[in-house]
Amino acid sequence: MIKHATIEKNSILLTVLVLIVVSIGGLVEIAPLFYLESTIEKVQGMRPYSPLELAGRKIYIRDGCYNCHSQMIRPLRDEVERYGPYSLAAESMYDHPFQWGSKRTGPDLARVGGRYSDDWHAAHMKNPRSLVPESIMPGYPYLATTPLDYALIAAELEANRAVGVPYTEEMIESAEADLKAQVDPDDDGFDDLLARYPKAQVRDFDGDPEVISELDAMIAYLQMLGTLVDFETYKAEDNLR
Ligand code: HEC
Repeated sequence: MIKHATIEKNSILLTVLVLIVVSIGGLVEIAPLFYLESTIEKVQGMRPYSPLELAGRKIYIRDGCYNCHSQMIRPLRDEVERYGPYSLAAESMYDHPFQWGSKRTGPDLARVGGRYSDDWHAAHMKNPRSLVPESIMPGYPYLATTPLDYALIAAELEANRAVGVPYTEEMIESAEADLKAQVDPDDDGFDDLLARYPKAQVRDFDGDPEVISELDAMIAYLQMLGTLVDFETYKAEDNLR
């Protein structure tokens, strides 16, 4: 007791001792990170975005959807009951930049894939209030009428590879063909696309098979969010090292 009083009354001594304690805490937390190969546990099913999904993601970022939507389900009971299994680090390991977010004006979108039909999304994007009368989300009607600009899609895959996404040479070369194949189930590239991007959903997303629109890309992206990892078979124990 007396010794502690001495420390409390001597600000220099207190500062030095606090520094020592904090440094030990820091070392214990930070030092192992330099020895671990990866802090992200490996999870079955994760793959890089297909070119069409990547294009949709880019529009999602361009139009600022992240200002109102998060993409991370926290490991809390109310979140898991509302949105589904909590997000795993691996699920955003190919996101540059990640879309976790902390601001939720609208619901979390980490597992929105498959929750609604394409038609629902198309109508909702055009005018959210046509489906949810009290919605304060803005409409994005121009997505349906703006043709998708995919001239630089191969370069985009390459840029992602530069920051660590494992796109292969083959994926980059066939980026444009894969993008077109994903909106057209009759395309010859169907099997190749699925071999490169397992579970990729192939169909005309926006209800207009004539043009590949920004809405095609956006819906393709929304419909795959959270669908890659199979949570029927995923068990945390399988991933313990
Ligand atoms: C001003 C805030 C705001 C912005 C910006 C915004 N949203 Fe929303 N969003 C909402 C709100 C509020 C809801 C809930 C009401 C509704 O369904 O419309 C919602 C709902 C949604 C839903 C349905 C989610 C669910 O689980 O029911 C999707 C999908 C969605 N937004 C996608 C988008 C996309 C894509 C963008 C960008 C193009 C976007 N939002 C931009 C506020 C926003």
